[in-house]
Amino acid sequence: MTRVFNFSAGPAALPVEVLEEARDQLLDYQGSGLSVMEMSHRSKQFLAIAEQAEADLRALLAVPEGYHVLFMQGGATLQFAAVPLNLLGEKSSADYVHTGSWSSKAIAEARRYCSVRVIASSESENFSYVPEPDSWEPSADAAYLHVTGNETIGGVEFHEYPDTGSVPLVADLSSTLLSRPLNVSRFGLIYAGAQKNIGPAGLTVVLVREDLVGNAAAATPSMLDYAVQAKTNSMHNTPPTYSWYIAGLVFKWLKAQGGLKVMAQRNRSKSGRLYAAVDESNFYRCPVRPADRSWMNVPFTLADPELDACFLEQAEAGGLLNLKGHRSVGGMRASLYNAVPEQAVDALIDFMQTFEADHA
Ligand SMILES: Cc1ncc(COP(=O)(O)O)c(C=O)c1O
Repeated sequence: MTRVFNFSAGPAALPVEVLEEARDQLLDYQGSGLSVMEMSHRSKQFLAIAEQAEADLRALLAVPEGYHVLFMQGGATLQFAAVPLNLLGEKSSADYVHTGSWSSKAIAEARRYCSVRVIASSESENFSYVPEPDSWEPSADAAYLHVTGNETIGGVEFHEYPDTGSVPLVADLSSTLLSRPLNVSRFGLIYAGAQKNIGPAGLTVVLVREDLVGNAAAATPSMLDYAVQAKTNSMHNTPPTYSWYIAGLVFKWLKAQGGLKVMAQRNRSKSGRLYAAVDESNFYRCPVRPADRSWMNVPFTLADPELDACFLEQAEAGGLLNLKGHRSVGGMRASLYNAVPEQAVDALIDFMQTFEADHA
């Protein structure tokens, strides 16, 4: 098989060991004679898979008592609506920090349900940084305060989260959850589409503090009501069983690697080396303020955008896949999720240096 490295932003690289285990179990899961894909979600075997996945996720993130862990559907995008529908209660407004394309989408969706106050924004600087929490102007009567922990397109990441007092902090951590340890108790609610660090698309992980559940607006579809999902162990309807199973294999793999501290060291090192290579050259450039650069998604541009197509073509020919930046910003983007190995970064840096020598 050709060795390639996948720098896709999502759906993204999965650990080879996970794919191998899934392959080995594809036709016959633990002697059952069935593929996990063919099992009832209510079967003993699948319930055991589901419970183990939840237990491993709780262990990895050291989720404190008092949080529901939900395995939902509809991606992070459906959570943009689920959050206000569930959390507004008697209140009519929520605070949002605007840091790029994904916060923009979360804000637009929330506006369908409530009055949104944008309490900080980096829009005037082309979303190249995270506004300092000191400069935020939070509202005391907000139902919650929403941040996008990692802007997958812009490559801007929160490296710390502020204490928001009695206003619950809600975070879209789609592209950063499981990349490092997290103090879950800081948050009222965390959500993440699975297709980056968690598993295949189709699954959405939600961690929500129990006291925030049970006040959904009357018109909330039951599928989106956290109380319904918590009560039914995320099985109000048929869940995406295979994605849930693969996510469970990823959690097991993460534990075997040494957990999130080890992931954090690797991710810091991988992204650090790539940023250093970009910063040391006069040919490549990263527009993001160094303190706020993402460990997961590294955007960079070439000195001459005319060379973009040639760069991508040669990268692909060398087995370096999916480096094209998002269509809204152009340039390049290397996504370095947990399953992307150190060698991928070495190969990319080598390629970039050779390309520069040939074209500068
Ligand atoms: C930060 C962030 N939020 C939300 C989304 C949307 O996720 P989904 O496609 O799962 O709805 C993405 C997708 O890439 C993302 O990166």
